[in-house]
Amino acid sequence: MQTLEAIHKRCSLKLHLSKKPVEPEKLEQVLEAARLAPSARNLQPWHFVVVQGDEAIEELALAFSESNQVVREGSTLIMVCAREEDDVSPGGRPYYLFDLGLAVENLFLAATDLGLCTHPILSFDEDEARRILEIPEEYRVVLATPLAYPAEASYDEAAVDKLGERTRKDLAEIIHYGKWGS
Ligand SMILES: Cc1cc2nc3c(=O)[nH]c(=O)nc-3n(C[C@H](O)[C@H](O)[C@H](O)COP(=O)(O)O)c2cc1C
Repeated sequence: MQTLEAIHKRCSLKLHLSKKPVEPEKLEQVLEAARLAPSARNLQPWHFVVVQGDEAIEELALAFSESNQVVREGSTLIMVCAREEDDVSPGGRPYYLFDLGLAVENLFLAATDLGLCTHPILSFDEDEARRILEIPEEYRVVLATPLAYPAEASYDEAAVDKLGERTRKDLAEIIHYGKWGS
């Protein structure tokens, strides 16, 4: 798959997920894509906690609200963490969050390329997730994503393509050539 195709195909899953295990080689490829992301001063502030196994996922799901229980469906759940104290921004704009965003998008595109589903989720009980996963206090638990195959019963290539037709603002609404008003 070409990069542009993966960009077009990636979508936060609106399908059900399969418990089919993600092969270790695929997991490694996806994490490697995240590892290669750029970061401010090359600080690479990210840590990824990979949660697998029904029991561990069920326990972690307690940190998620009713509307985000999709996290229970897949075979793998990844929690993305970083320390605020590693932030190198001069103030105002926390660079480490940009760094995490870039790493996560790399991870998403690699997953799409390998036929895996992802879904960024930020709304969860951070303290509860930190406690369950024994993440050190100084780390923020910023984002969660399932990494899983789509459930076969719900998988239909045409339907997935259709889901990929996103609601996005027109380019004209967000691009300013030269000056803002143009
Ligand atoms: C920073 C961020 C936080 C998000 N948090 C949640 C969330 O808590 N729950 C959820 O269901 N989706 C969440 N999403 C998914 C977005 O709703 C989704 O990316 C958006 O609707 C665009 O859809 P697409 O990813 O399929 O293109 C989040 C996405 C981002 C980028």
